[in-house]
Amino acid sequence: MPVGAASRGVAETGGPLAATIDALPVGLYVVDRRLRVVLWNRARERGTLGQPRERVLGRHLREVLAPEGFRATAPLLRRVFASGRPHEETRETVGARLYHVRRLPVREGRRVTHVLSWFEDVTERRALEMRVIATDRLTFMGQLVVGVAHEIANPLAGIAGAAQALFSLAAREGRPEAREFRDLLQGEVARCERLVRSLLDAARPSTMPTTVVAEAVGTVLRLLERHPAFARVKVVCRMERDLPRARIEPDALKQVVLALAVNAARAMPAGGTLTLRGASAGGRVVLDVLDTGPGVAPALRSRIFQPYFTTHPEGTGLGLAIARALLRGQGGDLEYRPRARGACFRVRLRPARRG
Ligand SMILES: Nc1ncnc2c1ncn2[C@@H]1O[C@H](COP(=O)(O)OP(=O)(O)OP(=O)(O)O)[C@@H](O)[C@H]1O
Ligand SMILES: [Mg+2]
Repeated sequence: MPVGAASRGVAETGGPLAATIDALPVGLYVVDRRLRVVLWNRARERGTLGQPRERVLGRHLREVLAPEGFRATAPLLRRVFASGRPHEETRETVGARLYHVRRLPVREGRRVTHVLSWFEDVTERRALEMRVIATDRLTFMGQLVVGVAHEIANPLAGIAGAAQALFSLAAREGRPEAREFRDLLQGEVARCERLVRSLLDAARPSTMPTTVVAEAVGTVLRLLERHPAFARVKVVCRMERDLPRARIEPDALKQVVLALAVNAARAMPAGGTLTLRGASAGGRVVLDVLDTGPGVAPALRSRIFQPYFTTHPEGTGLGLAIARALLRGQGGDLEYRPRARGACFRVRLRPARRG
């Protein structure tokens, strides 16, 4: 059946074909060679770009789409009419949704009489794909780090031994100052060994350690005092008294607080206030990290925890993804809480059992 006839059926008479087209979980519309809309399904009525079918049927696409939308779409449709070949693209629309858009030629005989535009929302599928890729990459990096840490232990022992041997030689030749260099070398080797051991320990499944939240926060804040990004940032720290210890590795919590604090400072280049507020609520230890920057725009809130999502040219977009993964891996969580002004990231932790 020619699309013109089908569309009249859909628009006016209903029936199983119309119901089927309306039931499709994709938005679609059809235009004729003059770019007049002859079919517009129910899914195309929803969302930020949706419009009621009754208003668009029979009208020129120029009157239906927003001016910039028409400018981008019309040449594509004309190309499909002229070439008879379909066109596909994935594009982002208002509200940061991702659509896979297909423009398909519809023929009567050999002539392309209509073009069908098909819009599939692939936001969730793409996010899932990105998460899988990122998790794979992180797992691989973790295995790599543990492998390297393991292999480094042997040459380190060799270096320490060689330093001792060198010292003995030098001492025999009456060069007692060699002791200083030996101590320096051995001290640095010991530092590397501690680092390697902590990496290997972190990889080993173990009983969950606990952390005094105020102490971890305090360590991070001392670290930030001299950081240039914090030169114009006032830091306020309010920790409830008698806050229970939290069930998390101290280093993991420090890494999370550091990532959140650096994000906050970056969001306030002209200066502002960073507040860290620790409290006990709903059986959890809660740490809020608040800033007085612009906050996260509603359209971006669902994306900031996706690996590799960043709005900064020099960012990797991994800070929040790793922070959330670290917390969830230890029974905690991280979420963004909208507020009237500024951003609030809430860290939730399991309290350690007392006694
Ligand atoms: N406090 C905040 N205020 C406003 N936007 C924020 C804030 N924290 C994070 N964001 C937004 O979330 C995005 C992702 O943050 P994330 O920490 O994952 O990556 P990044 O900071 O861009 O890069 P990286 O942490 O790897 O250096 C940021 O690019 C920014 O757009
Ligand atoms: Mg970051």
